[in-house]
Formats: sequence, C-alpha cells, structure tokens
Amino acid sequence: MNLIQISDLHVSDPGDPVDTLARTTERLAIAVDRINAMSPRPDGVIASGDLVNECRTSEYERLRQTLAPLQVPIWLMVGNHDARDELRFVFDDHAYLGDDGFVQYTVEDLSVRLIALDSQITGQTAGELCAERLSWLERTLAEQPDRPSMIFLHHPPFMSGIDRMDANGLVSGREELARIVAAHRQVLGIYAGHVHRPITTSFAGVQAQTCPSTAHQLGLDLQRTDGVSIVAEPPACLLHTRQPGAPVVTHQVYLDAYPVLVDVKLA
Ligand SMILES: [Fe+2]
Repeated sequence: MNLIQISDLHVSDPGDPVDTLARTTERLAIAVDRINAMSPRPDGVIASGDLVNECRTSEYERLRQTLAPLQVPIWLMVGNHDARDELRFVFDDHAYLGDDGFVQYTVEDLSVRLIALDSQITGQTAGELCAERLSWLERTLAEQPDRPSMIFLHHPPFMSGIDRMDANGLVSGREELARIVAAHRQVLGIYAGHVHRPITTSFAGVQAQTCPSTAHQLGLDLQRTDGVSIVAEPPACLLHTRQPGAPVVTHQVYLDAYPVLVDVKLA
C-alpha cells in the first residue's frame, strides 16, 4: 500500500488574507502535480481536514477545481475549519461522505482499511470525540478484527508540546479512544493534522503521527504560551507505505520542487 496523507489545505477565496499569505490554492495545485508524478503511483490520498479556511461554498468549489487533475482517488475529512453541509453539497458525488450527521466512514478498497473520524466541534477550534462517534469506531473495528486498519482524525489525540495548539486540541474522548485502540490489535496507527507540523509519537501502543500542511506551517514554539507563529517551512505531505504483515512506514514528502544534486549508481 502507498497512501498519501495531505492536511490543512485551507483553500480560501482570492484576496482572502490566508490565500495572500500562504498561497493555499496555488500550493495545493503543486501538491496535486507532485502526487500525480510519484512513482509508484499512490493508491489514493486522504485529506485529514481543514480543507478550506472559512467554510464557504465558494472555497469548496475552488477546492474541487484544484483537485480535479488528481489521478488517484481522494477521501476528504473535516477539521475545525470545515462545514459538513457545504462539503457534502459541493462533493455530492463522494458517496462515502454520507447525507447527514458526522463525516465518518471507512475505505475498504486498499490492503489496509482506512477509518476516518470526525473530531469537529462546530464553531470551535478544539475537537472532541463524543460517545456517538466513539461507539461508531468501536462497532466499526469489531466488524473486521483481522483487517489491518489505520485511524485518521483531524485533531491529534496527544499533546504536541505547542501550548496553544494543545489547548485547542482534542479536548474530550482521548482516554476512551486510547482504550478502544488498545483493545483492537488490528490498529496499525493513528494519523492526524491540525498542528501544521510533522510530529511522531505513540498512542495506546501504536504509531501516532501528524501531517504537515500543504500550505503554511506553525512554528516550533515549545515554550510560548501567548500564541503561535506561522512560518515558511516547506509545504509537505506524508507517504504511508506498508508491506503485508509489516508496520506502516511513514515518509515526509516535501512538495516544492528541489533539484537532485547527484545521482549515484551503486553496485
Ligand atoms: Fe489547519
């Protein structure tokens, strides 16, 4: 399996301050080109939330246009900057999004089962996993106990060390999520976005990883408590690879073009 994770696209309308600052749409287009050029071609792309910036239908239309050249399947998730109704309206052919309620689904057509959770608290930056969402996860995992599975959600279920993001992280459901993950041995890892940085740890005994943004990153401010900085570290995504029976191997992939300095042939 070769799965690309992109996150925190924040596609915004022309002239919006975020688009001016971080060229969100232009950079997503670069990401699409880069993914299309990858060898081997990925099996698909999962986008772990904050697809747009202001929940506007016009932004989702712009997102759809920008993703149109993508040559592999993409599965969309919600973050704190998303609106479930507008997402479903513009991507009405993405049946996995469902018709109402939380945007939670599984992807069954890869060698690893993908489980997407909805951690949004509408109107808030922080996220949660309520009893309804957690019981859906538990039922879903119980359906296929022998199928290797990766769990995705927007808000990471661990503390990053970046104070303002942790204060606006997954504020409830973390302990119950840990209990469910620990009780289901098919879970390979748990993958998030939200912090606009690549962070690796373990959670309930499995791999835990956040994905950088396709646009702007947050500064590595580990002692700051009064805010966050937005920095020009390179846009990036993650490539999750897995051979049958093996753990997931995750590569960070920079999206901007860079030269090959030397190509060395080894015997
Ligand atoms: Fe974000």
